[in-house]
Amino acid sequence: MSAQSNAYGADPAPRSEFAAALAACTGAFAGVAVISAVSSFLMLTGSFFMLEVYDRVLPSRSLPTLTALAVLATGLFFLQGALDVIRGRVLVRISAFLDESLSGRIYDAVVRLPLTARGSGDGLQPLRDFDLVRGFLSGAGPMALFDLPWIPFYLFLCFVFHFWIGVAATAGAVVLIVLTLLTEILSRGPSRDAASFGSARQALAQAGRRNAEVLRAMGMAGRTGNLWGEANRKYLAAHGRASDVGGGLGAVSRVFRMLLQSAILAVGAYLTINQQASGGIMLAASVMAGRALAPVETAVGNWKGFVAARQAYQRLKMMLRLLPQEENQMDLPAPEESLALQGLSLVPPGLDKLVVMDVSFSVKAGQGLGIIGPSGSGKSSLARALVGVWQPIRGRVRLDGASLSQWAPEALGQHIGYLPQDVELLDGTVEQNIARFTDAGSSEVIAAAKAASVHSAILALPQGYRTRIGESGAALPAGLRQRIALARALFRDPFLVVLDEPNSNLDSEGDQALTQAILSVRSRGGIVVVVAHRPSALAGVDQLLIMNQGRAQAFGPKEQVLQRVLPSSARPAAGLPPGRPQQVAGGNQGGRTPIAGGTGTPIGQIAIARGRPKVPDGR
Ligand SMILES: Nc1ncnc2c1ncn2[C@@H]1O[C@H](COP(=O)(O)OP(=O)(O)OP(=O)(O)O)[C@@H](O)[C@H]1O
Ligand SMILES: [Mg+2]
Repeated sequence: MSAQSNAYGADPAPRSEFAAALAACTGAFAGVAVISAVSSFLMLTGSFFMLEVYDRVLPSRSLPTLTALAVLATGLFFLQGALDVIRGRVLVRISAFLDESLSGRIYDAVVRLPLTARGSGDGLQPLRDFDLVRGFLSGAGPMALFDLPWIPFYLFLCFVFHFWIGVAATAGAVVLIVLTLLTEILSRGPSRDAASFGSARQALAQAGRRNAEVLRAMGMAGRTGNLWGEANRKYLAAHGRASDVGGGLGAVSRVFRMLLQSAILAVGAYLTINQQASGGIMLAASVMAGRALAPVETAVGNWKGFVAARQAYQRLKMMLRLLPQEENQMDLPAPEESLALQGLSLVPPGLDKLVVMDVSFSVKAGQGLGIIGPSGSGKSSLARALVGVWQPIRGRVRLDGASLSQWAPEALGQHIGYLPQDVELLDGTVEQNIARFTDAGSSEVIAAAKAASVHSAILALPQGYRTRIGESGAALPAGLRQRIALARALFRDPFLVVLDEPNSNLDSEGDQALTQAILSVRSRGGIVVVVAHRPSALAGVDQLLIMNQGRAQAFGPKEQVLQRVLPSSARPAAGLPPGRPQQVAGGNQGGRTPIAGGTGTPIGQIAIARGRPKVPDGR
C-alpha cells in the first residue's frame, strides 16, 4: 500500500485524488472481500451442524459422529471468529493508510479554502468529513456491506433444501432489501441537513468564543446563546431524523427477520408433515435464513453512517477538485530587482464585487511605497495580492518579471514578509513565531527581533524568547504582538516586505522603530510597501500610492504626490525625508525626522477630501 501512497500526487486528474488513494488499497479491499466470502461460507456451520445432528446423529445414535461433528464445528466457529478479527484489522489499517495519504492534503485544502471561496460554517467541515469517512471505514458498516452480496448464495441454498423454502426466503429477502432502499432514500436528506446545521452550529460557537469579551460586557451572551440554541436544535432534529430512520427501519428489519425465520420453520414443518423434507432440513433452513439475512439488519442499522460517510466523501472529492494540488513550480532565483503590478483587479474570495480595479505601478529594489486611502478603498486587498494571498482576476503581480503564480507558495514565502492588518500570532513560543516555525538558529531570530526593535521587550517577558504566546497571542499587549509580527515579517531579510497598518498599535517610540526598520530593509536592497492611516508610518517611504474606491488615484514620488493631492496647510511639508536609501544608509536623519503635518489629520482622509468627494464610499 505504502508504495502508492503518493500516487495521487502525480495524478494529472485532481478529481481522482481520493479515488486514487482508495485505489491504492484495492489489494486490501480484495482481501477483505475474500475474507468476507470465506466468513459467509463459514456462517453455514451452525445450520449444517444442526442438519447433521438431526438427520444423521439422532437416527444412528452415534456418539463418535456427534463428537467428530462437534469438534469440526468448534474449529470452524473459531476460524470464523479469527477471520472476523482479521477483517476488522485490515479495515482499520485501510483507514489509517487513507489518513496517511490524504490528511496532509486535506489540511492544506482547509487552510487554502478561505483564500479562494467564501465558505459557510466554520470552515472545518472537510476535517470532520474526513473523520466521518475514516470512522465509517473502520466500523461495522463496511463489513455488513461486504456480506450483503452473499445473500443470493444463501437463497440458492434454501432452494436446494426445498423449492418452497427458497421461495419463502426470497420473499423475505426482497422485503428486507426494500427496507434497505427505503433507509437509503429516507436518510439522505436528514444526513445532509445534519452536516450543514452541524457546521453552522460550530461556526456560531466559535464566533461566540472569539467574541467572549464583547458578549460578556454588553450582556449579549444570552441572545447569541439563543441563536446557538436554535442552530443546535436544528442540528439535533436533523440528526434525530436520520437516527430515527436508521433505528426505526433497523427494528422493522430485525422483527421481520425473526418473523421470516419462524415462517421458514413453518414452511419446513408443513413440508416435513407432508414428508417432503426432513426435520433437519426444516431447522437448518430456518437457522440459515436467519443468519443469511443478518447482514441486512446490520446494514440497515449502519445505513445512516454509510449515507453520511458517502456524502462526506462527495464533499471532500469536490473540495479537492476545487483546490487541486499545487503544481511543482520551477525554482526561480531570489528576486532582487523590482515589484510590478500590471492592471491588477481583485475580487474577494467567493464574492463577485471588484474591490481593486486596474491598479498598475512598479517599484525598484531599495524603494519604499506608502499606500494610503480611506477605509474600504482596497488597501488591504491590494496588500494581500502583493503577497500572493489573493489571486487577481485580472492583471499580474510580478517580482523581477515573474508573476507570483510562477512561484511555489512555500518558495515565494521565503522572499516575502507580511504583516497583516489584524495581527494574529500562532500558538507557540515567541521564538517559533518570529522564526515562522522553522528551526532557525537563535541568531537569526534575534536579528529579526532587533530589526523590529522588539528584542529588549521580548527579553522582559517571563521566559524571554521561550515565552508561550497562547492562542492568537491574546495575552500579549497589542503593540508587542504587532512588533513580534513585524519581526516575523523581517525574518531572514525577505526581498519584499508588505506591512498593513503596521503602526496601528504603536506608540511614538514604536513609530520610530518602525521607520528605522523600513529604512533598513530599503538600505539592504529590499522593497517595503506600507499601508497606512497615520502619516507617521510614511516617514520611511519615498513612493506613494493613493487608493480611492478601489482605484489608484495617484502614484509617484511621495513629495510630488502629496503636493498634487494635499492642501498645503495639511501637507507634512518640509519634514518629509527624501528617503532614498543611499542617503539613509549611513545617515541618521531617516527615522527621526519629524513628519506628521500640523493638523494631525490622517493623510488618507485629506487626500480623499481633495480627491473625488462626489464618489460615495463603497462600503
Ligand atoms: N475577506 C473579505 N471578504 C469579503 N470582502 C472583503 C474582504 N476583505 C475586504 N473586503 C472588501 O473589500 C473592500 C476593500 O477592503 P479593504 O480591507 O481592502 O480596505 P482598506 O482600504 O484596507 O480599509 P481599512 O483602511 O479599513 O483597512 C471593502 O469593501 C471590504 O468590504
Ligand atoms: Mg485595511
